[in-house]
Amino acid sequence: MNITVIGTGFVGVVTAAVFASLGHQVVGLDIDESRVTQLQLGKLPFFEPELDSLVQQTATIGNLSFTTAYEEAIPSADFIFVCVGTPSSDTGAVDLRFVESALRSLAPHLSDDTIVIIKSTVPPGSFTRFEKLLKSQTSHAVALASIPEFLREGSAVQDTLHPSRIVIGADSVHVFEQLKALHVAFGAPILQVTPASAQMGKYAANAYLATRITFINQIADLCEKNGADIAEVIETIGYDERIGKHYWYPGLGYGGSCFPKDVKELAYFSRQVGHGDNWFNDMQQFNEQRISAALDRVVTKVGSVKNKQIAVLGLAFKPQTDDTRESPALKVMEWLLKSQATVTTYDPRAVLPSQFAHHQAINQVDTIRKACQGADGIMIVTEWPEIVNFDFTRVRDKTKMQWLFDTRNRLHPPSIQEAGYQYIGIGRVGKKV
Ligand code: UGA
Repeated sequence: MNITVIGTGFVGVVTAAVFASLGHQVVGLDIDESRVTQLQLGKLPFFEPELDSLVQQTATIGNLSFTTAYEEAIPSADFIFVCVGTPSSDTGAVDLRFVESALRSLAPHLSDDTIVIIKSTVPPGSFTRFEKLLKSQTSHAVALASIPEFLREGSAVQDTLHPSRIVIGADSVHVFEQLKALHVAFGAPILQVTPASAQMGKYAANAYLATRITFINQIADLCEKNGADIAEVIETIGYDERIGKHYWYPGLGYGGSCFPKDVKELAYFSRQVGHGDNWFNDMQQFNEQRISAALDRVVTKVGSVKNKQIAVLGLAFKPQTDDTRESPALKVMEWLLKSQATVTTYDPRAVLPSQFAHHQAINQVDTIRKACQGADGIMIVTEWPEIVNFDFTRVRDKTKMQWLFDTRNRLHPPSIQEAGYQYIGIGRVGKKV
């Protein structure tokens, strides 16, 4: 099949490379010329495990190419996946400008049998608006469907090759059958639902996962007040199959390009339909206030950070990615700078975003050892394996009262304390510490 994927972000490049690896002829289309030029040279604009080699292999065998030209990539396409960004606007509502612009650009080149699939995360209800927009721009038949994406950054290739389910939001049986045939190779359950349900399902999945994280963070905070240990609490509840043991670890709150914006959109939508007080509003606030609340607690334990050097280990919003969008590390650094601390930071992949890059009080270094040298406090923010497995006894400065804030609860507190650090975790002030 001829497939065109519009948007060469995480979802777009992964979708394009995976379909190309299944033997389809795929064109990745983006209006960003420099990005497309890089992709044509086999260079990815971001880090994602396994994607580099998949893009190179599929391009080498002639199954994958990249272009900026709609007139080249649209007319012969059997399927067009729209994978452009849907950021939050100031009101919290999702900004659909990029999806609409892609639809407007592709419409004049559409053929009768092409199916256009919205993969970008868009709110239920927008489908009708997209259908109208397309129909107003072309005299050809319009076949539109919605297939939300459930991949996670850091494991995007494997998640796409082995999805838990394929959700096809399509009103027409004919469109559904063709999309089913395209996806049957993935060997996953294929669901036919309405476009609105597919889109609501995507929001519900992300909001539920964000809820779990928010919930366990709240429980962890209570553990700090009553002497319980959050790891033991998670084990205690996890044996109940309705609850489960996974996707529960506490920290500084959820980040990344998806959960914060999707929860904001649900909060906004709830307000629009008359639910001013809604769980999504509350969740968003808990998550936003979490970092300063956690750092205030650290200060009550270790004293002011003014004029202190703090090592921030990890910049990416999670391991195995160089993505710093809505990363807790950035909010931690903002807070530290406001408190007049100096920061040395290290991340195996991510680089300091521009707002911090030239800041006098921040220095990004290339090893954990350098970041920790002379530090008064160390904060583990992103749980990269090389960070959580690092031997912190090697960088203990015996002339100082150093503290170590393990925001991901990945270290063994007694070993850290034996090395002479003051250990601070999340929700673990009980007997183990
Ligand atoms: C998330 C969802 O997991 C995917 O299913 C979804 O497809 C994707 O959003 C999307 O909408 O595109 P992702 O943002 O890549 O994927 O990352 P996650 O691994 O889910 O982590 C999100 C945030 O929650 C991170 O900041 C992470 O550190 C935090 N988290 C996760 C916790 O604090 N505790 C946990 O137990 C799990």
